[in-house]
Amino acid sequence: MKKDMIRILDYSSAEIKALIDSADKLKKQKGKVSTHLKGKSVALVFQKPSNRTRVSFAVGVSELGGNCLYLGPDEISLGKRETTHDVAKTLSRYVHCIVARVFDNKDIVELAKHADVPVINALCDLYHPCQALADIQTIREQFGKFKGLTVAYVGDGNNVFHSLAAACAKVGINVRFAGPKGYDPDPSILKEIQVVAKANGCTVETGRDPQAAVKGAHVIYADVWVSMGQEAETKKRIKQFEGYQINSDLTKLADKNYKFMHCLPAHRGLEVTEDVIDGKHSIIFDQAENRLHAQKAVLLYLMKK
Ligand code: CP
Ligand code: NVA
Repeated sequence: MKKDMIRILDYSSAEIKALIDSADKLKKQKGKVSTHLKGKSVALVFQKPSNRTRVSFAVGVSELGGNCLYLGPDEISLGKRETTHDVAKTLSRYVHCIVARVFDNKDIVELAKHADVPVINALCDLYHPCQALADIQTIREQFGKFKGLTVAYVGDGNNVFHSLAAACAKVGINVRFAGPKGYDPDPSILKEIQVVAKANGCTVETGRDPQAAVKGAHVIYADVWVSMGQEAETKKRIKQFEGYQINSDLTKLADKNYKFMHCLPAHRGLEVTEDVIDGKHSIIFDQAENRLHAQKAVLLYLMKK
């Protein structure tokens, strides 16, 4: 049976930890080219723009000895030029894995359902699992452990938050969310994450107060206030997220050795001030680099089965 990577929640804690261990090992062999995926091809089906995800997958596949094809919105218009079913079936005859960035979660689920090869979610409206794997790899790299840490996420309860919170819950990291009314995480996803957290001896709490969330936290995490596809809401969102900016007044409340994380791309002056994102606590580029290693671990896990 082929396996996909659609949600962190579909993986066991042991599988997540094994993926992070594998990512660490791959990082130690940085720059080395192997032959694990020799003769294999991966399709990158992207409906939205990307820097990190696209480049790290392309480089990752090539470092594993495989071949990568980028298919942007003009090549494969999922569900428009042809059905998602037909895209899944056709691509499965050519490639050995499909990495897809879509607008609607239903599209990635549909793609995975009909594809005969593994499908990896490269971001949808609800999840960003590859980001979350790199995030917890980065956290362990910085602190040497998972347990006993608290991540404070301030902003939008979006795709990045859902996956980050799920990954933290799987490995025992506490999470505190603070965001304005109307931008909470999806209640059913949150419930599922909280069940996982409880089983792993940690908590995932939500609230409105950024100061309460950040107090004593080891990691402060930010994402954009306006995600891809929400551009029409920009004005409204910028107003509603006022008070949820990560700035030096807020970071003073965190643990003195706190780290600042952001999935990127970032908007300096909106969700985070320049002094924080470019300051000595920021680990955003380690985090970005780890996308490469974490995704190589996922590719190996799914494609060498
Ligand atoms: N963090 C992330 O997924 O970045 P891209 O949108 O540039 O891929
Ligand atoms: N929440 C953001 C993440 C970008 C990597 C978005 O969906 O646009």
